[in-house]
Amino acid sequence: MTDARSTPRATPCIEFDDVVAGYKDFMILNNLSFAVQPGSITLLIGPNGAGKSTVLKTLFGLLTPRQGKIRLNGVDITGIKPSVLLSQGLAFVPQGRNLFGRLSVYENLELGGITLGMKTARERIPEILEFFPRVKERLHSRASSLSGGEQKQLEVGRALLLRPRVLLIDEPSIGLSPIVVQDVFKLLRTLADQGTTVLMVEQNVKSALRFSDDAIALESGRLVLHKPAHAVLADPNVERLFLGGAHPGTALDSDNGRLL
Ligand SMILES: Nc1ncnc2c1ncn2[C@@H]1O[C@H](COP(=O)(O)OP(=O)(O)OP(=O)(O)O)[C@@H](O)[C@H]1O
Ligand SMILES: [Mg+2]
Repeated sequence: MTDARSTPRATPCIEFDDVVAGYKDFMILNNLSFAVQPGSITLLIGPNGAGKSTVLKTLFGLLTPRQGKIRLNGVDITGIKPSVLLSQGLAFVPQGRNLFGRLSVYENLELGGITLGMKTARERIPEILEFFPRVKERLHSRASSLSGGEQKQLEVGRALLLRPRVLLIDEPSIGLSPIVVQDVFKLLRTLADQGTTVLMVEQNVKSALRFSDDAIALESGRLVLHKPAHAVLADPNVERLFLGGAHPGTALDSDNGRLL
């Protein structure tokens, strides 16, 4: 963890200030305000449809807020396009599959670094591949031929090629085996300890909390909790918080925090 986190007056890396945003006339985020400290991992939790992905999409400029401000390192970025935000060090790994399946692994990485210029992108590819040995072995295969988990690793690697200052990552563990999930969380922890700010949505709540600094819970687009991750893990009401007010008796898988 960086010193910046423990300095109360450090400018937050990410700030949502009374944000209202959604799709067409249907607002999903309701007067959402929160701040994320630099060099931290913040986990966004909440039930399906709570608006977690919408937070990341709004932050990345894919949706324009109807109201409120979004700031990156104190600078107002409300309404700024994704391509501009990318060049300012914000990277986004969306939910689902987002590769060029017919292109090779290597070509996908090159395209991820296109804004850097091809020379710099190619120079950085080897260092990224060191994190992901399975992907490295398949460098000249079509991306679509990789397993689901390998594809996700490639997506994360492609985002890291930009050496982002802020990484937004939506459900990185989908399709990954438990060991690879731990590796991805460890990698995110290493990046955060080196100064990258991470805002992550993840269904493996308990596991992800162990690698996170803070947790934010949403319900119907409203913030219902913002606490240190360790405090959420220690909270006797933790199941109720994870379930977002679901019926008592709905169970959590004690191994990975998933809803059963
Ligand atoms: N492109 C869209 N157009 C219209 N409504 C959308 C769109 N994308 C999402 N929504 C709606 O916005 C709400 C919030 O969706 P969002 O994807 O942010 O939820 P989430 O918390 O990420 O859920 P999940 O855990 O299932 O991924 C949902 O009701 C969803 O149906
Ligand atoms: Mg989502």
